[in-house]
Amino acid sequence: MVKLGIIGLGTLGTTHAENIIYNAPNAELIAVCARRQEVLDEFNAKHNIKYSYNNFDEMLKNDELDAVLIVTSVNSHFPLVMKAIDADLHVFVEKPLALTTEEAISAQEASERNPGKILMTGYMRRFDPSYAEAKQKIDAGLIGKPIMFRGYSLDHDSGVESAPERGENNGAWYSEMIVHDIDLARWLLGTEAEDIRTIGGCYKHKEFEKYNDIDNACTLMKFKNNLMAMFYTGRTAPHGSHIETEIVGTEGILRISPVPRKDRINIYNKDGVLSECMDDYISRFGEAFKIEIQEFINCIEEGRKPEMTAYDSRMVCETANKAYEAYVCGELVKM
Ligand SMILES: NC(=O)c1ccc[n+]([C@@H]2O[C@H](COP(=O)([O-])OP(=O)(O)OC[C@H]3O[C@@H](n4cnc5c(N)ncnc54)[C@H](O)[C@@H]3O)[C@@H](O)[C@H]2O)c1
Repeated sequence: MVKLGIIGLGTLGTTHAENIIYNAPNAELIAVCARRQEVLDEFNAKHNIKYSYNNFDEMLKNDELDAVLIVTSVNSHFPLVMKAIDADLHVFVEKPLALTTEEAISAQEASERNPGKILMTGYMRRFDPSYAEAKQKIDAGLIGKPIMFRGYSLDHDSGVESAPERGENNGAWYSEMIVHDIDLARWLLGTEAEDIRTIGGCYKHKEFEKYNDIDNACTLMKFKNNLMAMFYTGRTAPHGSHIETEIVGTEGILRISPVPRKDRINIYNKDGVLSECMDDYISRFGEAFKIEIQEFINCIEEGRKPEMTAYDSRMVCETANKAYEAYVCGELVKM
């Protein structure tokens, strides 16, 4: 039985914690850590976890633990990851690995100095059954050699209010979002970005401007071997959460969720033929989150490493930071 602790019991932390409790047969969530006592009380009223902490350092002293999950705000990822590596634990951290590239490199290096332990970042799209199958088909040569990646990551316009302010401490909303597509592009194209250009602006939510953030952006990257990638990252989708991916190859095209529909229902009425859209990322990637945490647990139990390395986590972070830098400076940026 793999014994886990978690810090951060917000929206996604609760999802990960409950996935361990209800869905992972070979793991036990033995410890939870949150800053506010009422958050712990509320969680424990439902789940009655063996150990509760207000302080991460105290949780790390618990020698029953094999691993920790870090699901806090982005600005705390790096210090918490470093402490958990120092405590000789396996670490799962939500994306991105760190706020700055320097921090991401330090975390990668710290993890590589401790090769017996895993450092895995939560890029859950890889674990979505459609993305996993697409990767297998691309690797099997179904569309020939990949030439171009195109990724759309559009958040629902609702709930936008807290995003700009949160970005002040946690990095631009744009960077938090584009990391997913950068992870997919590197994974599916099998190589690294070289040149980056980003254009965009605050077309609807001017409050992003205050923090030099973007509500809609288009990023173009040249990858090694002259491969191409296009990213559309937006925060104003009126129809729901729209995640769409395309890979163009020499012998065909593969698309994942070109229509981000919630189900297989079509409604025929006075407005036409309608299909509803995914509401949010948890509805779209609920299954992927379960598989992702199960893979982290299985890697620990079986003594193997996840496919996503600490180097991958660092490169995604670095590439996203360069893409944001390209927006700010308005010029082509080289990796
Ligand atoms: N994989 C995805 O698609 C995805 C989606 C949303 C969020 N995320 C990531 O998950 C993380 C959490 O996001 P969320 O939406 O659950 O946020 P949230 O604001 O709902 O929860 C974050 C929690 O962490 C706590 N926290 C923050 N800093 C802390 C610290 N230093 N020590 C202890 N607790 C701390 C906060 O009090 C809060 O309860 C972020 O890193 C975010 O980037 C990933």
